[in-house]
This record gives sequence, C-alpha cells and structure tokens, in this order.
Amino acid sequence: MKYVTLGRTGLEVSVAGLGCGGHSRLGLATGKDEHHAARIVTAALDLGINFIDTARAYGTERAVGAAIKGRRDQVIVSSKASPGWGDELLSAAGLRESLEKSLVRLGTDCIDVFHLHGVTAAQYPHCVAELVPELKRQRDAGKIRFLGITERFVSDTSHEMLAAALPDDHFDVVMVGHNLLNPSARKRVFPLTMRHNVGTLIMFAVRRALTHSDAARAVLEQLIEAGQVAAADTDAQAPLAFLVDHPEVASLIEAAYRFCRHEAGAHVVLTGTGSVAHLEENVAAILAPPLPPDLTNRLGQIFGRVDSVSGN
Ligand SMILES: NC(=O)c1ccc[n+]([C@@H]2O[C@H](COP(=O)([O-])OP(=O)(O)OC[C@H]3O[C@@H](n4cnc5c(N)ncnc54)[C@H](OP(=O)(O)O)[C@@H]3O)[C@@H](O)[C@H]2O)c1
Repeated sequence: MKYVTLGRTGLEVSVAGLGCGGHSRLGLATGKDEHHAARIVTAALDLGINFIDTARAYGTERAVGAAIKGRRDQVIVSSKASPGWGDELLSAAGLRESLEKSLVRLGTDCIDVFHLHGVTAAQYPHCVAELVPELKRQRDAGKIRFLGITERFVSDTSHEMLAAALPDDHFDVVMVGHNLLNPSARKRVFPLTMRHNVGTLIMFAVRRALTHSDAARAVLEQLIEAGQVAAADTDAQAPLAFLVDHPEVASLIEAAYRFCRHEAGAHVVLTGTGSVAHLEENVAAILAPPLPPDLTNRLGQIFGRVDSVSGN
C-alpha cells in the first residue's frame, strides 16, 4: 500500500480507501449479511487500507464497528449525517443525535472525519449557519477530529456546491465525484482544495457506466446530444474500447481507477464492493502507474469538456 497526507488534517492515509456505500454497501445491497460485510472491511485492513468511509445512510456502520474492534488505532474512520431532504433540514440537535448513534454503531468514542452528506448548493447556507457550528462544538468535545462535506454528484455533476463552499474554508476534507467520463473537478474543485490544503476523497471512479457497456453507450448518446462530446471523436458502439485495447491497460475498471489516482490534488480513491476479489483487483489498479500519455490525451480530447453526467 502507499500512503499520503490527507491535506491539513495531517492524517497519513492509504491512497485506496474502502467505500462502504455505493451500489454494493459491502454486499448488504445484494443480500449478503453483516458478517460478510465485516469480512470485506477486514480484508481491506489486511491489504493495508487504513481509510474506511461509511455513513448512517448506508447501514454499514455496525459492520465497520465489528471489523475494527481491537484495531481501532490502525484505522481512520469517516462517517456522515445527511443535512436533510427537500424542505426538511436537519437541526443542530438532530445532527448531534445522528453523530451519537454513529459513535455507538461504530463502537468508538471519536470519528476521525465526520461529513455533512450529499449536500446540495441549496442546502449549503443552512449547513454553514446551523450545522458547522455544531460540528465545531462536537470537535471541541472530542467526538470528531475533522469536518468534512460531500457533494451530491448524481445531480450536482458540475460541482456547484463545492465550488461555492471551498472558498469559505469551513471543511478539512471534501468528497468529490470524479471519473474519466466527467473530469470537471480538475478545473472546478482541485485547484481550490490545493489552495486551501483540504484533503480529498474521490468517489464515482467506477459506477455503472464503467462496468456495464449498455450504460456507457447510453451516457455517450446523452453527451453527444448535449454537445459535450463530438460524435466524430468516438465509436458509438464501443466508446471506451480504445482503453481496453491498449497494451498497457488490463481492463476498463483498472483504467478508471488509475485515471483518478494520479489526478493532481487527489488523495484517497474510494472503492466500494461486496467482493474480496474485486477489492484486491481494485487496490492493485489504484497502486498501478498513471495511464500512458497517449490515453490521457485521447480521454481529454473526447471527455475534457464534460460536466453533465456522473456515470451513475
Ligand atoms: N455523496 C456521497 O457522500 C457519496 C456518494 C456515493 C458514494 N460515496 C462513498 O464513496 C464510495 C465509493 O463510491 P463509488 O460511487 O465510487 O462506488 P463504489 O461504492 O466504489 O461502487 C462501485 C461499484 O462497482 C462494482 N465494482 C467494483 N469493483 C469491481 C470490479 N473489479 N469488477 C466489477 N465490478 C466492480 C461494485 O460492485 P461489486 O460489489 O459487484 O464489486 C460496486 O457496485 C462509496 O462506497 C461511499 O463510501 C459517497
């Protein structure tokens, strides 16, 4: 494993982080039980991963708690509370309650990075007025170490919330959607995180459009229609085949993780799965060298202007 400093937190974290959400939620989403989920976390720790990202909303905090029992001091734990949905916004008391429940499920008395989860641009002012002061009180009380915020990339594909939040500098860590289909964080997010020395966690490196060829074709169609990709630059039937055909690339998923890991400003690339074999493959991909320049140039030519899809 390789380790990197997570911005101004000073935490030394593995470049691969275990994501306990996503479509798999450590296998819970496909019918596996908590023992299985905990085994995925243990396998991650055994591979040298020391950054584990979970959330109240994923239902995986208890499995993480079971796996880290007796190893708590080797692990950086990241969890989250949602600031609310629609008009129903979370109060400071609600945040406190959510944090207390997370601490119990995780079996710990302190969470290293505690995020406001999936924040939209519309929710951000409420977060600053009501929730950030509470997070700071909880930090002063020793219940959390660092403040984090994650964007709602499925709908905020152009990083509107983070572009507004980062100059205010309330958060030590951000979680940002980034992948080879939508590299817009390169211009809109990473220059700001680097300026403020904020730690970065990359999500959406691999979602459906990078694991299912029909989803990739549908995304491409959408991008051509939106005028963000030129039809002449791609093969509509197999838009990403040029990556897999390259002699220095093992698979599309491998290319997708290598693309994210070597982005300037990226610290931890999150990978979520319900399978130990996938986890091992993905860690190897995250540790592999950068993509060859001919591929990064071609990706830039095709997808360099995209900011309207998440790859979900
Ligand atoms: N707004 C937010 O705060 C937010 C939103 C999304 C995600 N997150 C966090 O970020 C983490 C990463 O999320 P993500 O969006 O990048 O998705 P992810 O959780 O990494 O999910 C990746 C998906 O691809 C599949 N996959 C992984 N490796 C594979 C392989 N080698 N071969 C075939 N399929 C593979 C997995 O299914 P299998 O189980 O079959 O491997 C999984 O469903 C999440 O787990 C979560 O912790 C946060």
